[in-house]
Amino acid sequence: MHLTDHERGMRDGDHGPAKAKAMDLLIRYGEALGAERLVETNNVAGAFNASTPSVRELVKRGFDTVFSELNLDSQETVPIPKMAASTCQLITGIDNDNWAIQGIPEELVVQQKAAEAHFGALGINMFATCTPYQVGNVPVKGEHCAWMESSAVVYCNSVLGARTNTEGKESTGAAALTGRIPYWGYHIPENRRGTHLVEVDVEVDDIMDWGLLGYWLGEIVQEDVPVLTGRLKQPSLIKLKHFGAAAASSGGVEMYHVPGVTPEARDVDEAFGGRTITERLRYGPAERRLAYDNLNCAQERDVDFVMLGCPHNAIEQVATIALAVEGKKLHPNTQMWVHTPRALREVAARNGYVKMIEDAGGVVMSDTCPAISRYAPKGTRVIATDSAKQAHYLPAILGLPVWFGTVQDCVATALTGTWQGALR
Ligand code: F3S
Repeated sequence: MHLTDHERGMRDGDHGPAKAKAMDLLIRYGEALGAERLVETNNVAGAFNASTPSVRELVKRGFDTVFSELNLDSQETVPIPKMAASTCQLITGIDNDNWAIQGIPEELVVQQKAAEAHFGALGINMFATCTPYQVGNVPVKGEHCAWMESSAVVYCNSVLGARTNTEGKESTGAAALTGRIPYWGYHIPENRRGTHLVEVDVEVDDIMDWGLLGYWLGEIVQEDVPVLTGRLKQPSLIKLKHFGAAAASSGGVEMYHVPGVTPEARDVDEAFGGRTITERLRYGPAERRLAYDNLNCAQERDVDFVMLGCPHNAIEQVATIALAVEGKKLHPNTQMWVHTPRALREVAARNGYVKMIEDAGGVVMSDTCPAISRYAPKGTRVIATDSAKQAHYLPAILGLPVWFGTVQDCVATALTGTWQGALR
């Protein structure tokens, strides 16, 4: 691999043992992928906090050991300096305030808070959300990033036009310390061009429509780059957030184009950039129905847990929920957790939305989600959600059946205790 003088210096230990370990990891990783060089990055989103039971023993040996082992793949503990690149923490397993409601043991909360204090001081910004682009980390078009979290990656590439592959704990740790990441995959312009042309033949407008389209499409195109045309109403951040998360769940979509909307596709020709269309797909009423049926695996209509906010809710989504339950009470057998980044929870509290939801009997959570934490309200038997991604993962992660629908369906379910959704 070609290295600059500075990169060689880091590899050879001129800048300390942690950067040497990081460079060694990046070189091995890059060479395995066929990357010929590294690229500079000043935008890293990874997982650095130590909140799971499995790292208890590591934590006893100190946070340098935790970072060395989990973020640098090193059995040898090296002292970890401040991050070289602008770096943020993605979602965690624990809501620092609502952990008791989650059912998390207190010792893990103490462990997470200590880790946050340590790594925060090293420059890792504790956004603690899967949507860093909602709370201040908005890379510009063409910016090279090193992000984990599939729903964030597909948003970063497709909607923002910034460039990242789906990185891991180790590569983001090494990138944070060196400001480098292997130049391959979606860092290379040619790989960002469309492969599949998708003709949407049924109106796609609300959040559920975009989630269904993404869920159907991801399963078919897997890791390719779809280009969507047809009856798409102007999407918003929220709708594309749900679309990308769904496509990255049923498949591995990391990049898509909506000509006239996303930044690397002023039209269909630019989306493909001369690449041959490998397949033409049509999405109509039957495909929409198929996605809906695949996402709804529950039979029992009594619902005891409504999960909203995957990916983490925008403030407008929290407002919609708050106003829908204002002055009402949730069904006594049904709990409702609303997930939003902590920074937006603060806004929601100032707007009165948190109080409206809490007065109705719901909870506004931050920092986590049930798929990541693996915690749902004790005794949960049936779940309802407005997220295709959460509906995809929860049956496997928690072993529980899920209903999927609109946010209105889900709120009505929380108020009545029985599933109120249907494909309309
Ligand atoms: Fe975020 Fe958890 Fe969904 S990480 S995208 S809320 S599964």
